[in-house]
Amino acid sequence: MLTLGGNSSPAVATLSFSSIIISGKELTAHVATSNSSSRLSTPSTVASAVPMVKRTSSGVNFIRPHLRTLSPYTPIEPFEILSARLGRAPQDIIKLDANENPYGPPPEVMEALGRMQFPNIYPDPESRRLRAALAEDSGLGAEHILVGCGADELIDLIMRCTLEQSDVVLDCPPTFIMYSFDTAVNGSKLVKVPRKKDFSLDMPGVLAAIEKHKPKIIFLTSPNNPDGSLIKEDELLEILNQDLLVVLDEAYIEFAGEPSRMTWVKKYENLIVLRTFSKRAGLAGIRVGYGAFPLSIIEYLWRAKQPYNVSVAAEVAACAALKNKSYLEDVKNKLVMERDRMYKLLLEVPFLSPYPSHSNFILCSVTDPSKSAKQLQADLAKEGVMKLEADEKKLVDFCFGKQNQATSEDCDDAVGERLRLTLNWPRGCECCCLLLHQSRVA
Ligand SMILES: Cc1ncc(COP(=O)(O)O)c(C=O)c1O
Repeated sequence: MLTLGGNSSPAVATLSFSSIIISGKELTAHVATSNSSSRLSTPSTVASAVPMVKRTSSGVNFIRPHLRTLSPYTPIEPFEILSARLGRAPQDIIKLDANENPYGPPPEVMEALGRMQFPNIYPDPESRRLRAALAEDSGLGAEHILVGCGADELIDLIMRCTLEQSDVVLDCPPTFIMYSFDTAVNGSKLVKVPRKKDFSLDMPGVLAAIEKHKPKIIFLTSPNNPDGSLIKEDELLEILNQDLLVVLDEAYIEFAGEPSRMTWVKKYENLIVLRTFSKRAGLAGIRVGYGAFPLSIIEYLWRAKQPYNVSVAAEVAACAALKNKSYLEDVKNKLVMERDRMYKLLLEVPFLSPYPSHSNFILCSVTDPSKSAKQLQADLAKEGVMKLEADEKKLVDFCFGKQNQATSEDCDDAVGERLRLTLNWPRGCECCCLLLHQSRVA
């Protein structure tokens, strides 16, 4: 690992190997510029023995060319920043713009984190305890399971292990944005086959693109973000029959009422299934995702992954969450009931048309030509409801909160009132449970 420690003005920089640590296979060299003496930690005799290098005009020259034109990823705004921007207290903001689980994790998680031992020691690079717990949870052997810092990390890791710059990734938008984002970061090519009007896959388009572009990977999301539709089994099987790697992202599968396909990786050498603790267990902030892989693939991910990608705290929290299955089931049931109730309510909003969803959010199109999704987003944001994704094509996404935030009796609460006014719903309509969904779609 080579660390650049200098900056700014000198025309030349002296490379000084201020510390060379040989630990196992690793050689670490800290580099400092000649005039940044506070950063020099080695005797000047060592510094003067190393060659001078010409300084290039701008740091951008160090950046890989394909990254210089990359649009920055727009992250979710943290509570405090948003609260300052909106001039509202954090507790006064309805925050579900990233599909976090409003119920949070089972109480065992906080207790286990409080009792956590050895935070000063690096975590188990193989996350053995968690993988054993996941094996029990999924019915798939631990040897097929790899854990990551969120499913996000695994998407990137899969690409780093499989893609050359000339390789093509097939994407079916609108869908989760990280597939296209990571493809760009990895410098590979993206081919898009947009979904049909009802958000189902355009199968003739997908098969034609496979034939024409010979993609290495296709990302399929079921339920899909942002609309919550499921992939049809015969379509999945047909795609699995093609010569490409199928990454099936099941981040929201718990809400779908159908089983995960994790165990399929034993049968299909070209299938990877991704899951996460972010939605099912309310652990989005702790960052734990996992994937099921064929043995012929997982071996290489083990070699390439960061050794300590799952922290001690993340493993402790995820193991504790899996110990209370009835809590996870209860929370899932509440969210599913809320989804079904909300769907009926959204049908009554004269300018919205909701799509049926198998996830923890509902996508609506804005049907009234005099209204725009962007305006609705802005109106709700003014009311302290964190921004929903709204595109120019008049799609808005709604997610929902805790049932007890949203009973018809307490519809007069502040949250309900804000949403009621913004959506122009009649009083008594339980719109206070409406929370807004997810900006990470493309
Ligand atoms: C479809 C999909 N996959 C993966 C993720 C990321 O999951 P994680 O929080 O485990 O990184 C999300 C997050 O919103 C998502 O919507």
